[in-house]
Amino acid sequence: MVAPKKLFIKTYGCQMNVYDSERMAEAMGGAGYVETDRPEDADMILLNTCHIREKAAEKVYSELGRFRGLKEAKPDLKIGVAGCVAQAEGEEIMRRQPLVDLVVGPQSYHRLPQMEARVREGGRALDTDFPLEDKFDTLRHRPKARRGPTAFLTVQEGCDKFCAFCVVPYTRGAEVSRPAARVLEEARDLVERGVREITLLGQNVNAYHGTGEGGDWSLARLIWALNDIDGLERIRFTTSHPNDMSDDLIAAHGECARLMPYLHLPVQSGSDRILKRMNRKHTAEGYLRLIERIRAARPDILISGDFIVGFPEETEADFQATLDLIEAVGYGQAFSFKYSTRPGTPAAERPQVDDAVKSERLQRLQDLITRQQRAVQDAMVGRTVGVLFEKPGRLPGQMVGKSDHLHAVHVAGSGLNVGDLARVEIVDSGPNSLAGRVLAS
Ligand code: 5AD
Ligand code: SF4
Repeated sequence: MVAPKKLFIKTYGCQMNVYDSERMAEAMGGAGYVETDRPEDADMILLNTCHIREKAAEKVYSELGRFRGLKEAKPDLKIGVAGCVAQAEGEEIMRRQPLVDLVVGPQSYHRLPQMEARVREGGRALDTDFPLEDKFDTLRHRPKARRGPTAFLTVQEGCDKFCAFCVVPYTRGAEVSRPAARVLEEARDLVERGVREITLLGQNVNAYHGTGEGGDWSLARLIWALNDIDGLERIRFTTSHPNDMSDDLIAAHGECARLMPYLHLPVQSGSDRILKRMNRKHTAEGYLRLIERIRAARPDILISGDFIVGFPEETEADFQATLDLIEAVGYGQAFSFKYSTRPGTPAAERPQVDDAVKSERLQRLQDLITRQQRAVQDAMVGRTVGVLFEKPGRLPGQMVGKSDHLHAVHVAGSGLNVGDLARVEIVDSGPNSLAGRVLAS
């Protein structure tokens, strides 16, 4: 018997990349590969890259440089670059880095096994097309392999919004939604394999409009159909745009039992002047009214957001408006970034805010968010929430899981197993997690 070849994948960036890496590993399973977590054992190394952060391409080059020694020791080692940097700079990577055998963009992952065969014969391969066929039809799950209690499931990809700072519309392409039946089939398969919580993924997930029985399906309709799958206990989705929060989706937060009370709804800035320049197509006031309606549907929902500070032309007054919006919302979770230029996006050409100013604003914003997060977390003490346990904790007998609101919760000596979902009374709040006590069911 031939020993299987080994594949090492390093994943950067968002949850969609994590999902894509799993699909690529499975597709390569069909080509005789098993995964390894040791690059030095690998016959193929794949970097699944992210373009959202600053100097993304430079980081990829320096990471690739580190594999030089491995390739010299093992000339048969193949090195590939996938993800959004591959999409944006594929040809440049091929030109600049001869170590790279293969470059594959996010819409072409189903072609990876054929590309691998080509590079095995000594060639190089580049595929950054946006093909018409559905890559997910080919990137099937490994049949019936058991898996952990939580999973991501991509339902939508790409973005038509063209926010002035963002590369996603260029790297992931136009918005595409998967047909509802395919999503439901994949969800049922995941549940059969032990999954109890599914997070639906999309760059603009709430703009989902897949074909389905009886016409176009909205995200809300998809969620209601998932809610009927026996054994699927929890549904989440990310990331949403304020302008696509439709009435049926807001209502689902109040009515759909398995849809969790957590919503990641980035606003980026609280200044209308900056929002306009960002091409966000909503105002701060519109966002606040939307949050009110969502909270009216589901009062305990935890709101999470993304913020950019130091966007071109942002003044102290604009920044203050962002702090005011944050004060008004009360975030339970947030991600914040200094604006950094992405070549090819409109904002990259504009006059930039001084880096020291950006750093100082980021610090103030993060201090405020940290206080809010902590307040929201502390307010959980005394409440009873559902917790899905994902792994043993650091202490003997301890288990760690996620609450309905996505807080990390640990419980002591409870005799629980990974995958158990229990009612837990929150008894304490620490810097990064809650402590709970399992209630007898
Ligand atoms: N500079 C800083 N932050 C950015 N993001 C996207 N593009 C940029 C950029 N050029 C942030 C946004 C987005 C999150 C995923 O990354 O806040 O919501
Ligand atoms: Fe990027 Fe999100 Fe704006 Fe689309 S909606 S361009 S993914 S920030």
